Amino acid sequence: MPTIAFVNGRFLPINRATVSIEDRGFQFGDGVYEVVRSYNGRLFHLDAHLDRLEQSARGIRLPIRYSHAYWRRLVTRAFAMSGFADAKVYLQVTRGPAPREHRFPNTVRPTVVVTVRRLDPLSASVREQGVTAITVPDLRWGRCDVKSLNLLANVLAREEARAAGVFEAILVRDGVVTEGAISNCFAVIGGTVVTSPTDPSILPGITRAVTLELIRCEGFPLEQRVVTVEEYRRADEIFLTGTTIEIVSVVSLDGAKVGTGSPGPVAQTLYRRLGDVIDAECPRAVVPLKSRNAGRRRRT
Ligand code: PDD
Repeated sequence: MPTIAFVNGRFLPINRATVSIEDRGFQFGDGVYEVVRSYNGRLFHLDAHLDRLEQSARGIRLPIRYSHAYWRRLVTRAFAMSGFADAKVYLQVTRGPAPREHRFPNTVRPTVVVTVRRLDPLSASVREQGVTAITVPDLRWGRCDVKSLNLLANVLAREEARAAGVFEAILVRDGVVTEGAISNCFAVIGGTVVTSPTDPSILPGITRAVTLELIRCEGFPLEQRVVTVEEYRRADEIFLTGTTIEIVSVVSLDGAKVGTGSPGPVAQTLYRRLGDVIDAECPRAVVPLKSRNAGRRRRT
């Protein structure tokens, strides 16, 4: 079964998976989600993603009856059924179906959806050249730390990026960079790595947390503080982190070169170290399945 969907207790092919039009996820975006990826047949940092899903659900007062252990078993099973070695697993929980009314329904029956798709990683050439970005006003709500289904502002920002022919939209609020539309942002300024602190204006990225650990291990000076867009414009390096993009350098911002215009040494070092973390957690030896074309290249 190539593309798996799990909907409220049943596994089925994705084209037969449906939810009610009264679902509050559809009516209001009233729900939360996670994106987990695998390498070499193993899910990377699954527990961290499940912890964040539980945190997001608490953030919108959505009771999820599934225990952490149940989620773990469910996601692992869906992933195994897909047969993909390198997959993108999407988890979604909504406040369930109810007649349309803003206030919470008296009885909540959350809708739980899990899908597993083949992952198309960034190509080696894109990664080697770096990506481009534009700045876009951050129009999102005040709880961006919740990974909520309300992604309209992110969707519009991504579309603006696509129309401008660039990879990512870097979101700016009151002159301050918050994060990317699908990523967390870092800059290297005078040898110090800077990034926004975890507060409600950004998603506490799982890749961001791993990257912070790597920055500390490498001994790079680090500041988690408010960083203005003007500082980003003068940065020696800018890079993005995220589950699907890992760590990737931004080489042009609003049409102007970042640093030398090529991926910088800090991001390149961190990308290689991230590869070590991935190889340790998801060793190559377990690649038994299809989708070998998406296998990771060895990092040196
Ligand atoms: N997005 N910030 C935003 C707004 C994001 O949407 C994401 C990831 C991140 C990076 O978080 P993490 O390292 O945990 O993936 C930061 C996912 C991949 C998505 O919505 O598809």
